[in-house]
Amino acid sequence: MRRQYKVLIVDDDKAIGEVLSEYMHKKGLTAFIETDPRKVLSKVDTILPDIVFLDVRMPHIDGMELLKKLKKEKDIYIVMMTAFATMEHIIKSFREGVDDYLLKPFKLQDLDITLNRALKIIKLQDAYNTLQDEIKTILEEEIITQNNKMLKILEDARRVAPLDVTIIIYGESGTGKDLLARYIHQHSRRKNGPFVPVNLGAIPHELAESELFGHEKGAFTGATEKREGLFKAAEGGTIFLDEIGEASLSLQVKLLRVIETRRILPVGSSKEIPTDVRIIAATNRKLEKEVKEGNFREDLFFRLNTVPFYLPSLIDRKDDIPLLVEYFLKKSSIQHGISEKRISKEALSKLLSYNWPGNIRELKYVIERAVILSKGDVIKEEDIILHPIETKKEEKNIEKIKPLSEIEKEVIKKALKIYRNKKEAAKMLGIDPSTLYRKMKKYGIKEEQ
Ligand SMILES: Nc1ncnc2c1ncn2[C@@H]1O[C@H](COP(=O)(O)OP(=O)(O)OP(=O)(O)O)[C@@H](O)[C@H]1O
Ligand SMILES: [Mg+2]
Repeated sequence: MRRQYKVLIVDDDKAIGEVLSEYMHKKGLTAFIETDPRKVLSKVDTILPDIVFLDVRMPHIDGMELLKKLKKEKDIYIVMMTAFATMEHIIKSFREGVDDYLLKPFKLQDLDITLNRALKIIKLQDAYNTLQDEIKTILEEEIITQNNKMLKILEDARRVAPLDVTIIIYGESGTGKDLLARYIHQHSRRKNGPFVPVNLGAIPHELAESELFGHEKGAFTGATEKREGLFKAAEGGTIFLDEIGEASLSLQVKLLRVIETRRILPVGSSKEIPTDVRIIAATNRKLEKEVKEGNFREDLFFRLNTVPFYLPSLIDRKDDIPLLVEYFLKKSSIQHGISEKRISKEALSKLLSYNWPGNIRELKYVIERAVILSKGDVIKEEDIILHPIETKKEEKNIEKIKPLSEIEKEVIKKALKIYRNKKEAAKMLGIDPSTLYRKMKKYGIKEEQ
């Protein structure tokens, strides 16, 4: 979309201002004149011009001084005008950042060239800014919600973020645990420090300790060099221990010690080193149950549970679905360079009546798929393809009802067969790759099946 460009002409000679302004109007630009150089800065603040034509010799403040100020505070395209230019002056102006120079008296032809060049650069800058905004929209992950429970969680999160306490986030897969952990980091005094996510479900138990705390040279076979761990990488920031329920009992002992002493012990070292890292843990398991079953240490559980957050499943915050749909529609259309699509009432009610086992992640992929596959500007009911488990509902025959775990196993096998790689299969199942990995282990599924 073309916007109306604004030009400010600064010249103590009113006649010049008028000639220029008339010319700008003819070119379809909006022009403003200022004859008093002392008023220029405040005028720039109110009209926000794209281009300033600036006379050099004026009473009170000279153009060169104004140029310096304008370039320092705002990034505006500036054309200097003068009848008394010396080479030295011109060079100085360019050093101060002037964009173009116009010698008085000028011919309309000169003005045309100057103006066209300015507009070309401004349009390029506009296009660049739009692209930057779009990239930001794709990369930036916001927490979108209007749900009361969620709003309360965000409020609590902002309150505890600046206190360095250890936090645990509970929630099913895809409910936004990762996002909330980043949100807390962003609202803490550590926000300029690193945020290091670690998925304990994806690191083999025997490597976890050295991954986290580092190791000395020769600490174990294969440790040919000394290595810093992830705690070191998170120094001054936050470490996000995702899937803490997957930590081995021996790692749990060590983590508890880190939380209590704020010191880490690299594998193979006898010297503990201080660590300034905030810990945020997360899990999709019921840790209390794990404690009862002896899989999780009670002392660590209590320690982590000082400040717990419980993220609701999407089914318990359905009022967020329309808002999230809108957000993902926008995001995926930008990401795929497709013009933004709308969603039909029928499609939205299909989304509202689904149970969302993969929560927001699943919703995100369902929308993304619909945006890509739907024809036209409106997403229709048939463009919404839900989880394969849904089709089982149609089988009324009692004999065909199987335990959920068996169905899950089948669906996972099917997804792995179709998509071949685990990441892609997990994406289509609406679960995290590490969740898929865990379930594969649980059901004894091998990748190449
Ligand atoms: N409130 C929200 N607003 C917008 N996007 C969200 C929201 N919650 C989650 N998402 C998006 O959904 C996806 C899943 O979220 P996230 O990775 O935080 O979930 P998780 O709870 O960590 O899942 P898992 O247990 O599988 O790791 C991400 O792409 C995230 O950006
Ligand atoms: Mg996660």
